[in-house]
Amino acid sequence: MHGGDDALRVAVELGPRSYDIQVVSNPGPGALSGFVQDSLRRGWAGRGCRRALVVTDAHLAPFVQPLTAALAAIDLDVAAITLPAGEASKCLDRAAEIYDRLVHLPADRHTLVVAFGGGVIGDLAGFTAATFARGLPLFMVPTSLLAQVDSSVGGKVGINLPGAKNLVGAFHQPIGVWIDTDSLTTLPEAEYRSGLAEVVKYGMILDPGFFDEIEAHVSQILARDPFHVRRMVARSCELKAQVVTADEFEQTGLRAVLNFGHTIGHAVEATAGYGELRHGEAVAIGMVAECRLAERLGWIGQDVTARLESLLIALGLPVTVQSTDADALIASMARDKKNRGGRIRFVLPRRVGTVELTDVPNESAIRAVLTTRSASP
Ligand SMILES: NC(=O)c1ccc[n+]([C@@H]2O[C@H](COP(=O)([O-])OP(=O)(O)OC[C@H]3O[C@@H](n4cnc5c(N)ncnc54)[C@H](O)[C@@H]3O)[C@@H](O)[C@H]2O)c1
Ligand SMILES: [Zn+2]
Repeated sequence: MHGGDDALRVAVELGPRSYDIQVVSNPGPGALSGFVQDSLRRGWAGRGCRRALVVTDAHLAPFVQPLTAALAAIDLDVAAITLPAGEASKCLDRAAEIYDRLVHLPADRHTLVVAFGGGVIGDLAGFTAATFARGLPLFMVPTSLLAQVDSSVGGKVGINLPGAKNLVGAFHQPIGVWIDTDSLTTLPEAEYRSGLAEVVKYGMILDPGFFDEIEAHVSQILARDPFHVRRMVARSCELKAQVVTADEFEQTGLRAVLNFGHTIGHAVEATAGYGELRHGEAVAIGMVAECRLAERLGWIGQDVTARLESLLIALGLPVTVQSTDADALIASMARDKKNRGGRIRFVLPRRVGTVELTDVPNESAIRAVLTTRSASP
């Protein structure tokens, strides 16, 4: 990480698809314009970009003006499209609406697609950028904590089909990511806390020092103290970028470490009925249950689980599986795409900061951790 007092820059090194993530708060005038211009020059090799389409949702539309002004300041013709907020917008119909808008701009092969919003807008706008005219330049301005620390980094874009989340998608790296952590001030508390689960995950899978740092600054993080939030977001991006760089197209298995907490988390999320639990809340529950599984394999002691559990509770996240239907949870896990040879695969901790992908040979161990209730109050 480098940059001035209130700007941190993370370089995502992917050869010709390399780009920078700029993490700022209270940026000076012209900073965003300059960063878009640099990103275009580097990521789009100076090919003439004259137009931009900003894609946003109804919750973010009131805050879009500084962004459109920054794009206009570098002589782009700026149009905007506002879609309904929520996961339901990540669908083919909304993608078609964006295509239609692009056709009528009219867009050419150098029209910049700018995603301004949470993960839903990032995935949807990114998907249309990946596919329209076989690929338009994409610039990300993530506004939710989840989008800032997770979905805007890594190049996965996509939409849902009815009943099948993220089934249609592509890898399409952005030319730049601009993260203004001040935008988090309007993010609802529950969304913010949900994003914190993924932040804790990075500490657990890759960086014990980062885990310590989160533990030591819970109150500043919950108060959304700008200095700590910026550090936390930048370090999370750096860690995710490290994994993505090692396995950009999810071929070597290295990217699987990001799934810690997600095997059980996804099952908990799906069986609760999508929308009942936020993704990060389900991941928090999943991480604790998966730690208990690691305990059963003799990989970690109870102290690691207890430490993780206390941190998540302090951050206001749930840690207990509510469903009593272990069969439904196991059936849901059995459909996980990491599985091989009929065995459910997990990414489990060896210690804080290190995880490993493994088969869990016996279902009774999984069943046991799903029915364990928290020891903490
Ligand atoms: N591509 C990836 O690698 C990746 C990784 C993780 C998650 N995802 C996807 O991300 C999506 C979830 O993202 P999300 O949690 O950001 O959901 P979201 O985009 O629905 O945002 C959550 C809510 O917060 C609102 N919001 C966002 N920023 C705001 C702000 N600054 N102020 C006020 N309100 C704000 C949104 O309008 C929405 O109502 C899922 O579809 C998931 O599949 C993708
Ligand atoms: Zn996740």
